[in-house]
Amino acid sequence: MARELSTDPYVPLTGTLPANATEADAVIWVHRQRTRHQEGAGFSFTIVEAEGGAPVGHCGLWLRQLADGQGSAGYAIVPSSRGNGYAAQALRALTDFAWTVPGLERVLLYIEPWNVASVRTAERAGYTQTGVLRDFEVSDKVRRDVLVHVAHRAG
Ligand SMILES: CC(C)(COP(=O)(O)OP(=O)(O)OC[C@H]1O[C@@H](n2cnc3c(N)ncnc32)[C@H](O)[C@@H]1OP(=O)(O)O)[C@@H](O)C(=O)NCCC(=O)NCCS
Repeated sequence: MARELSTDPYVPLTGTLPANATEADAVIWVHRQRTRHQEGAGFSFTIVEAEGGAPVGHCGLWLRQLADGQGSAGYAIVPSSRGNGYAAQALRALTDFAWTVPGLERVLLYIEPWNVASVRTAERAGYTQTGVLRDFEVSDKVRRDVLVHVAHRAG
């Protein structure tokens, strides 16, 4: 799954998975995901098909701003499994999980305006657009304007 994700032209720009990862690169990335919680970054999850459990993508709930009641989420589906709405289902589950984290009041998504599939995913999962950030650091390699979508804890 990680190796296929790394063939997407955009995914390697948004995280630490190298483009066209070798088996060894992919294993290192997976191990890095497993340390995310203990280092205080948040939760990194594999998205699997409900039937059969085949891995189809990755999502994360990032909590470095938890002291401000704020988290952010990210998601990616391998190219061969796109078109099934998996990201929206995963984002809904991830957001439900987010409200089990004490002190977390809102989850933000940072989406580049061209990324229509991601905007639709956000809307399907119940997020609403709240603004635009100029020159946002999409990763340590890329700064771009992004749409900000938000979900709030109910009540
Ligand atoms: C964004 C992403 C996770 C969505 O994956 P997915 O769950 O397979 O999404 P789908 O293909 O089912 O598309 C979701 C919606 O977007 C629409 N869509 C997809 N591609 C589209 C396109 N090029 N133009 C317009 N609409 C598009 C689909 O029709 C669907 O709409 P619907 O909800 O009204 O039915 C996937 O494209 C991906 O992994 N992209 C690379 C990583 C990425 O960009 N992550 C998000 C960073 S913010």
